[in-house]
Amino acid sequence: MSSRRQGPQSRDQGDKYSVLLPTYNERENLPLIVWLLVKSFEESGYNYEIIVIDDGSPDGTLQVAQQLQEIYGEDKILLRPRAQKLGLGTAYIHGIKHATGNFIFIMDADLSHHPKFIPEFIRTQKAGDLDLVSGTRYSGKGGVYGWDLRRKLISRGANFLTQVLLRPGASDLTGSFRLYKKHVLESLVQCCVSKGYVFQMEMVVRARQKNYSIGEVPISFVDRVYGESKLGGNEIVSFVKGLLTLFGTT
Ligand code: GDD
Ligand code: MN
Repeated sequence: MSSRRQGPQSRDQGDKYSVLLPTYNERENLPLIVWLLVKSFEESGYNYEIIVIDDGSPDGTLQVAQQLQEIYGEDKILLRPRAQKLGLGTAYIHGIKHATGNFIFIMDADLSHHPKFIPEFIRTQKAGDLDLVSGTRYSGKGGVYGWDLRRKLISRGANFLTQVLLRPGASDLTGSFRLYKKHVLESLVQCCVSKGYVFQMEMVVRARQKNYSIGEVPISFVDRVYGESKLGGNEIVSFVKGLLTLFGTT
């Protein structure tokens, strides 16, 4: 392997990674995901910050985040809350505005996305100077664990439909464990019309249109233990609507 494995001293000094963590009722998960993130970044020696975007969670997620900020420091944990639940897509847009890194990680806060994959994302990005690296559950050693058949079918169906209609050239379109160059993410967000779960899919489709370079890292997605998914029937309807809109306009 390359000299990058040698330890913290050999890291590129200039790069900084901003991790966007959108939360809605993630009180139980937040301390663990933050601890794992800090561990992953400290061990690999990359500069980072974690931006928690909480949408007025009734379970007190924000108070937990405040405690974490006291533990890890205000330069490492940034709190950018919103008053109410305004959706995943806009939570990212809100987070980007406050990010100081030149790279941005997007991931779920419920431990479905394990921070242990972060160094692999970074290695892949650097190897090809890629604009976007997308975690994939549907290629190589990637996989999904703990989902029932219904959830698996929804995800496979959404990916399959999108592959057929839009041919985006990436194997996991609805996943949301990704690494972007910040300016790339900003430019994609500006042309992105969707607000909810369909946002992830639209981002890859637009990236393809704009000829950004896309890499993939196989990841295992493990269903959450604490709390519940916010993906409901409404989200599925709006996904299909969003997909058809994209099909009609691209
Ligand atoms: N701030 C904010 N606002 N955060 C939100 C909102 C919201 O309105 N809705 C969800 N979140 C947060 C959750 O707290 C979690 O950290 C993350 O967004 C993902 O939400 P989940 O509810 O856990 O999503 P999921 O597990 O059903 O869906 C996952 O798989 C989908 C399909 O593959 C996510 O990775 C989705 O992004 C993905 O599209
Ligand atoms: Mn989840």
